[in-house]
Amino acid sequence: MSIRKVRQVINGQAATDGAGVELVRVIGQPALMDLDPFLLLDAFRSDDPDDYIAGFPPHPHRGFETVTYILNGRMRHKDNAGNEGVIESGGIQWMTAGKGIVHSEMPEQQDGLLEGFQLWINLPAAHKMVSPAYQEFDQEHIPTESRDGALVKVITGETSTGTRGPVSQPLTDPLYLDVTLDPGAEFVEGLAAEHNAFLYVIEGGLLLADSADELLELGRDQLAVLEPGDSVQLRASDNGARFLLVAGKPLQEPIARGGPFVMNTADEVRQAFSDYQRGNF
Ligand code: CO
Repeated sequence: MSIRKVRQVINGQAATDGAGVELVRVIGQPALMDLDPFLLLDAFRSDDPDDYIAGFPPHPHRGFETVTYILNGRMRHKDNAGNEGVIESGGIQWMTAGKGIVHSEMPEQQDGLLEGFQLWINLPAAHKMVSPAYQEFDQEHIPTESRDGALVKVITGETSTGTRGPVSQPLTDPLYLDVTLDPGAEFVEGLAAEHNAFLYVIEGGLLLADSADELLELGRDQLAVLEPGDSVQLRASDNGARFLLVAGKPLQEPIARGGPFVMNTADEVRQAFSDYQRGNF
């Protein structure tokens, strides 16, 4: 068994997106432009409505998937194909934008805490122009595995003890876990050796080895890129911990970004802008 060590620690960068939402960009910023197949990770957490109330008015996407996971609060989603719904605390929306969708993502609350993540996952060239699709699950439909000192919510993928998340995406075969550990609790989980993986600390702290075999403490809002290996092994600090463990199969294809479009070539991005401007989404 080879245990994955920490290759790089990333601190998120304050950013503003949508109509003026304050967020922290963790993947998709100079320190970590992408971690194939992951293109972007935004974290948002605020109890000040001024930080989030403007939301994300209608905007397009093409060529990848957006995964919205709400820890606290409510977010209303609406698209140009007539789909509409509210993602509530503990719920997930896995949207395959594919060939194109225009949607809005607006807080469904005037006050209180809004906390969550949006992750962008790439699609392989042959699947970038598929029809848009959704996989949406509320809290009750996300299985929670209890272990000694740990609670593991499984959004997608399968844990080493066989708990399987409701979302399916064979193209990148992602694992997306939300793990809560008691103070000092140990956590061990198998990972596909060839998949890229990261940890993101939501609360508390995590202790694990870095590339030089030094014990590293990761704190709140830090992301750790993991080295290759077939398992992750770590321990919660004295305050306990809550973190995301995310892994996926790298696509190893060229990435051409243009705002809300992520294609393989600059020409395809230009085509996306042109299709959108002509109302062909
Ligand atoms: Co969007």
